[in-house]
Amino acid sequence: MAAMASVGTSALRREGPEKLTGRALYLDDLDVPGAWHGVTVRAGVPRGRIKSVSFDPSFPWKECVVVTAKDIPGKNVVTLIEPDQPLLADGEVRHREEPILLIAHPDRAKAYEARSRVTVEYEPLPPVLSLEDSLSVKEKIFKDDNVFKSFLIEKGDLKGGFALADFVVEGEYRVPHQEQAYIENNAMAAWEKDGVLTVTGSLQCPYYVVKALKVLLGRDESKVRVIQTVTGGGFGGKEEYPSMIAGHAALLALKAKRPVKIVYDRHEDMAATTKRHPAVVRHRTGLTKDGRLVAQDVDVVMDGGAYATLSAVVLSRGTLHATGPYECPNVRVRARAVATNTPPNGAFRGFGAPQTLFAAELHWERISRALGLDALTLRRRNLYREGSVTATGQVLRESIGASECLDLVVKRSDYEKKRKDYDLWNADPAKPTWRGIGLSVCHHGAGFTGSGEVYLASRAAVALTRDGRILVLAASTEIGQGTNTIFAQMAADALGVPSDWVEVETPDTHKVPDSGPTVASRTTMVVGGLVRRAALELKAALDAEGGRVPKTRADLKKSAAALCGREPLRRFEVRYEKPPEIVWDEGTYRGDAYGVYSYAAFAADLEIDRATGEVRVRKATTAQDIGRAVNPRLAEGQIIGGCAQGLGWALLEEPVYKDGVMANAQLTNYVIPTSLDAPPFDVTIVERPYSRGPFGAKGVGELPMDVPAPAVAAAVRHATGRLIATIPQTPERILAALAGPEDA
Ligand code: MOS
Repeated sequence: MAAMASVGTSALRREGPEKLTGRALYLDDLDVPGAWHGVTVRAGVPRGRIKSVSFDPSFPWKECVVVTAKDIPGKNVVTLIEPDQPLLADGEVRHREEPILLIAHPDRAKAYEARSRVTVEYEPLPPVLSLEDSLSVKEKIFKDDNVFKSFLIEKGDLKGGFALADFVVEGEYRVPHQEQAYIENNAMAAWEKDGVLTVTGSLQCPYYVVKALKVLLGRDESKVRVIQTVTGGGFGGKEEYPSMIAGHAALLALKAKRPVKIVYDRHEDMAATTKRHPAVVRHRTGLTKDGRLVAQDVDVVMDGGAYATLSAVVLSRGTLHATGPYECPNVRVRARAVATNTPPNGAFRGFGAPQTLFAAELHWERISRALGLDALTLRRRNLYREGSVTATGQVLRESIGASECLDLVVKRSDYEKKRKDYDLWNADPAKPTWRGIGLSVCHHGAGFTGSGEVYLASRAAVALTRDGRILVLAASTEIGQGTNTIFAQMAADALGVPSDWVEVETPDTHKVPDSGPTVASRTTMVVGGLVRRAALELKAALDAEGGRVPKTRADLKKSAAALCGREPLRRFEVRYEKPPEIVWDEGTYRGDAYGVYSYAAFAADLEIDRATGEVRVRKATTAQDIGRAVNPRLAEGQIIGGCAQGLGWALLEEPVYKDGVMANAQLTNYVIPTSLDAPPFDVTIVERPYSRGPFGAKGVGELPMDVPAPAVAAAVRHATGRLIATIPQTPERILAALAGPEDA
């Protein structure tokens, strides 16, 4: 009898018990024998030239190791896209949290004390502290125009489209920074042994760290080894920053000739590491009087912070999602990411899309008011369906669950009835609250944009050891989202064996092939597809050997012995192959921006205290088309977690920037939702299979982050009659809006 299918069942999270019982060892828990503690001296000014660095002579410096830019054996750069960010500032400083030098000491407290005994003097330069200042280009901090990257998408004839419009509706929307607030701060340890520099720590992308260390240390891949430790969340926040902290730990370890650990505390992590890009998005939209889109003109500006880091690709995704999931014949999207003297912004779940989708979705509220048609009808008239053509000219052929998600959410949230009921409730002055319900529908492209997956050329392998163990070998990391569980499920089904026969190797760059970064909702769809194909190759080899799939582990051992011969294991590795129908032109930004999109709809049902302006979300209803849920419970976890994070961004999380740095860089006053803030969730998983995804699966990681914020703002408008075009919609902001004129 063949093994029961595992894909589609809620196999238990493999690392769950370890994490739940506290047995899992995070980097800070690891006893690295002989390790010293590394700390970072940071700039403290937003912009300037270093004049001098002095060390308090009363401190016993001989107990420490101090590293400056001069100790870098290779290039002083954090290798990513643009080679603009130094690992340690050398001359010019572009943001307050910029690392200047590093100190390691055997004692952690002494290391911090040493840090306080260093004084850096600067010749100050005028800083650029906001996106608006950057656009005015009084101070040039990046090239001539402060622009890291710009994009233009054009479809049809914009002018002609506006000429056909009965209505033109304009709006400006603004979203703030957001902190990833993973449960474990950034942390890394490094040591050298037998000429190999090993770095281990909390990270999403082991091979990004390898690439950065190669350039920094001027050595080849065989002399650099990166191993992921148990990682307490990432959300994009451990996509690029680990290359920085790994470089710091490596330099200290090389100079100290012993292991060095760097573990950030919460304040340092929040102040110095990447945030979501703030953005200002403007829409000018032409519609016929029956609510059909005829022209969409969208302008996007994102604040990249002091260095380019990932801004180009965050902006790209934001640009490509800026129209929302709606078909319009005439479109222009212009987008820029600009430089400011603030710590670099970077990857955060959604990667630019939540920013532009907030604007696109909330804009329906303005359109609704202008046309006198409700936002639900307007969406239904324009939503992507089979055969729709996107702004880049991509024809949507399959797996388009947008309408189904919207219909489910409207029904399950009782949207239409509640719109009316709440109007009556709100008209009654005796009621203590106002109530509102608002909608959103979003799409999210799975995998790297455009030709990104082709350039990555990811590889993954499945191996059978001579003693009958099946191993999945990939660099994709488990960061709490379920990678290890779903890889085992997919490999098991491809092989036709129980999933507990399959082990997933820890990402160690001396053991696993480069399956690409754990980002961009690509792990299940893209890397899962590679794991499945590699497993099928192993199966074919087993079939050739024994003519059948082993039914017992004893059978498997026999087959393994035959297949491996004298070798310790047989390894079957596959590489990403682009489906032939995906065509993308990087130069013109035309074509298939993503192989496929996932879709989600969300209804926020909330009430607002009339006296205090405090918002309570009564219920969150969402339906999400993810192609196929490989593990429904884990998928639902991703959806609830992502939506909770989106609700935090919408209602609570307010990063306050003063003089170029986050002033509330601690969890006491940067408020994130706890389980007590989470509303009851009604989640429906919609499965519109994607023919190129393994078992039909698309991406789920980022999609849930896109939907809550615009739905909340629409619900607040329903409740208060005020369209607040920014977030978080805090009590203060709501009360201020209520003091102003009604907009309905
Ligand atoms: Mo991500 S935000 O693509 O780690």
